[in-house]
Amino acid sequence: MIKDIQNEILKLKKEKDICILAHSYQSPEILEIADFTGDSFALSQRASEVQSKTVIMCGVRFMAETVKILSPDKKVILSNPAAGCPMAEMLDVEYVKEVKRQYPDYAVVAYINTTSELKTVCDVCVTSSSALKICRKIEKDNILFIPDCNLGGWIAKQLPEKNIKLLDGCCPVHAKLSREDVLKAKQLHPGALLLVHPECRAEVCELADFAGSTTEIMHFAKTSEADAFIIGTENSIVTHLQLACPDKKFYPLSNECICSDMKATTLVDVLNCCKGEFGEEIILDDEIYRGAKRCIDEMIRLG
Ligand code: 13P
Ligand code: SF4
Repeated sequence: MIKDIQNEILKLKKEKDICILAHSYQSPEILEIADFTGDSFALSQRASEVQSKTVIMCGVRFMAETVKILSPDKKVILSNPAAGCPMAEMLDVEYVKEVKRQYPDYAVVAYINTTSELKTVCDVCVTSSSALKICRKIEKDNILFIPDCNLGGWIAKQLPEKNIKLLDGCCPVHAKLSREDVLKAKQLHPGALLLVHPECRAEVCELADFAGSTTEIMHFAKTSEADAFIIGTENSIVTHLQLACPDKKFYPLSNECICSDMKATTLVDVLNCCKGEFGEEIILDDEIYRGAKRCIDEMIRLG
């Protein structure tokens, strides 16, 4: 059944010259039919190289907007219009403008998990895997990092030479993970290494053996000599790693680390997008497009 739907998608994709991009948090059956998979950084790079006239982005809205900004002449479809990222929508543009007025000599760094509108008032974007490198390269010593105070705090610890100001935003999925979850998991799986996403709170990152983006976590687990890991990020990564490394053991840090937005897209949604019967074409207002593009271009230049 799943194979039949996948084959139909593959046929339509070829006939209609469609490229499918899928974030690593998508289900295995979607990753299997995607042309490119990876973390936010890998996907934003791929987006600019894609030749096809139509791109279906299996992920959340800000990812589809990033693809559109990097490929304005392509038809970019968000695989499920209901898939947003709560963190991306957490901060209001007027509020950030007000903070900027209070801190005029700060460079404003936006995590890529922001709306395009919010990017228009920022200087540069970063992804979880490029944030450290880009913040280090920024000329100004004062940085206002939005919206994720956990990722920002993790960067700040590694860059004591910079003065990094944080606001209140966070990923509600990763921020649920706690020190208690770590202690419980370590007790249940003694000897397993703890790998976490830097969107987790400091009390979790501090106890980790490794913190990094989705792709960096997967790379670490695949190439490590260790054979057991506790995974502190969206639980789809536990499934993907278990399939990729059947001889190793992977345990979720918490059974609750599930992003319902990332899970919103189904294989049938992708099929219906290919048929032209579902999904939302991303259309951006000209001014928002130009402002957000400046911020993303700067990320590519510095990254
Ligand atoms: P990555 O940068 O690892 O792709 O993470 C994106 C994301 O939404 C994590 O919650
Ligand atoms: Fe957004 Fe968090 Fe879901 Fe990632 S896991 S898409 S940051 S809500």
